[in-house]
Amino acid sequence: MVMDEPKNRGAAAKRAVKPASDSQTVTKTAAKPSIIYIDGKFLPESEAKVSVFDHGLLYGDGIFEGIRFYNGRVFRLEEHLDRLWDSGRSICLEMPMTRAEMTEALLETIRQNALRDGYIRLVVTRGVGNLGLNPAQCKRPSVIIIVATIALYSEEAYRHGLTVVTCATRRMGPASLNPAVKSLNYLNNVLARIEANLAGADEALMLNDAGNVAECTADNVFVIKHGQIFTPPITAGALRGITRSVVFEIAAELGINISETDITRHDVFIADECFLTGTAAEIIPVIKADGRVIGRGKPGPISLRMVARFREITQESGTPIVS
Ligand SMILES: Cc1ncc(COP(=O)(O)O)c(C=O)c1O
Repeated sequence: MVMDEPKNRGAAAKRAVKPASDSQTVTKTAAKPSIIYIDGKFLPESEAKVSVFDHGLLYGDGIFEGIRFYNGRVFRLEEHLDRLWDSGRSICLEMPMTRAEMTEALLETIRQNALRDGYIRLVVTRGVGNLGLNPAQCKRPSVIIIVATIALYSEEAYRHGLTVVTCATRRMGPASLNPAVKSLNYLNNVLARIEANLAGADEALMLNDAGNVAECTADNVFVIKHGQIFTPPITAGALRGITRSVVFEIAAELGINISETDITRHDVFIADECFLTGTAAEIIPVIKADGRVIGRGKPGPISLRMVARFREITQESGTPIVS
């Protein structure tokens, strides 16, 4: 396998990414107060409220998607809606609207906020019930759509790479709460994130109960060895990431071998390259894991090529916001 040379990042490099002060997320709603969709209404931020009896709040009972739009187009909208509907089916949450209605609500919320580039948080809660956890008490799920601008990492982080630590908190097993369901219950990930913060790392590597790498707190993990790309299978406890699937497409396009296989911490330590993928993080290289330098301690050529190609694809494709 021939290792690819880094590609000129061209227009993508010129893209304005607001630098984060540190590795923490910088999320802002639109510069002027944003308009938020709740159950058919478009409300100013200050009036966008949900009931304290909503089971999304009381029990984390609900599902969500994080979606990006670039250059006036929503990236991989159909895939996000597929996953949202799958999450709903899995937890017996019946969507209160059709897919067409959801699409229109989402596009209209972006239009109302007059943004061409940004991030959408699409939340479906179980709805208002009583203090008991029985979802049968909840008459109708609530749909919330928030549009924001987001810069998860600084441009420098994309150029120089992140550090990760393995955390003690294990990724939940599929028999308890399947990580394939993108539910509102993210405490498992939050606890891992706290460990990364306390260790001064950018992200936390989460293992499953077998001790294999599952994913990071909001990203899928990839390692590269001898020119081949490896990522844990979904059964290892990873979300079926939409950015992850784009990596498979780019690898095919570039003629790079990619496979799903169990990965241990050892595989990460001895990798030539490592990168993470997620809608918010996009594709970002990792250069250190648990104090071990990965490869040459700087983003490798395949990772950089992935970042560059991903940026091209996001600029070129998607569902138009204004048709
Ligand atoms: C736990 C987890 N893993 C992986 C991902 C990456 O998935 P995607 O690329 O679809 O955003 C996310 C983000 O959605 C996540 O929350």
